[in-house]
Amino acid sequence: MSGYPGLGLALTTLALLVPASLAMAQGKPAPSTPQAKPAPATAQAKPAAGGGYAQRFASECAACHGANGKSETPGTPILAGQHSYYAVTQLFLFREGRRSNEAMTAVAKSLKDADLRGFSDFIGTLAPVSAVPPEAPLDASRMSRGQMVAQERKCLFCHGPDLSGGQQVPRIAGQREEYLRESLEGYRLGKRIGYTPAMIEPASQLSPEDVETLAYFAAHLPGASAGSTAK
Ligand code: HEC
Ligand code: HEC
Repeated sequence: MSGYPGLGLALTTLALLVPASLAMAQGKPAPSTPQAKPAPATAQAKPAAGGGYAQRFASECAACHGANGKSETPGTPILAGQHSYYAVTQLFLFREGRRSNEAMTAVAKSLKDADLRGFSDFIGTLAPVSAVPPEAPLDASRMSRGQMVAQERKCLFCHGPDLSGGQQVPRIAGQREEYLRESLEGYRLGKRIGYTPAMIEPASQLSPEDVETLAYFAAHLPGASAGSTAK
């Protein structure tokens, strides 16, 4: 990520938090890495499966993010179905004060590296859910307009044809609509700093109408659809 000043340190530190095979995928759309051998990295304290993070999630995170990561709280994202690598990058950004949100900054401040990893690994095990119930009425013309804009603006290229994401690219299908709108506005206005600069260009080209349309479109794509199960 040369040409993105100030992130060098962040990337170095983050590299300690994620398996080398994933860190190396940074910046590229999830490649298949048949020869990657993450095994040696696991020598250092890998929490036992779960490592108590399911329980910690229930007591420390679920009040806002919902049981099993299905947030019912406006402005608070659904974490179910989110990729662990994306989750760890965001927890890291919150902890380092690069992504700011009062609630999450307070939570992340006290998390150790092992916690960032533990919570993210746990998040990666949660099956995707959709904020919108399947029986909810669908505005077909808004959906087809959304599909068109998402194609034009390359959202589908990076987030996948079903917007399920992968690795450091977040799943946005089935996410809460108002949260998607706020996130896109954040990138568009330069208020939200990403772990990679990937969103800067696509977001800066969006009109406020595009933001509305894309948030509606992504929120109403079935979040629990098949698609990538990559963590
Ligand atoms: C007091 C409410 C609150 C608590 C408790 C909380 N969160 Fe959050 N979390 C939020 C909000 C609000 C956001 C969205 C912030 C924003 O808009 O930038 C968020 C965002 C996130 C994100 C980024 C998701 C994305 O799609 O970008 C992750 C990951 C996350 N939280 C994990 C956790 C974990 C793990 C815990 C428990 C250790 C936790 N949160 C506890 C409110 C909370
Ligand atoms: C070049 C690849 C790329 C393109 C094109 C792209 N995205 Fe992204 N998107 C990313 C990455 C990587 C992130 C995570 C960045 C970060 O660290 O904040 C992201 C983050 C997001 C988020 C935040 C999700 C969350 O949970 O907080 C939303 C919403 C989003 N993108 C929607 C879109 C939409 C809509 C478009 C089309 C206008 C688009 N993206 C185009 C790669 C891309």
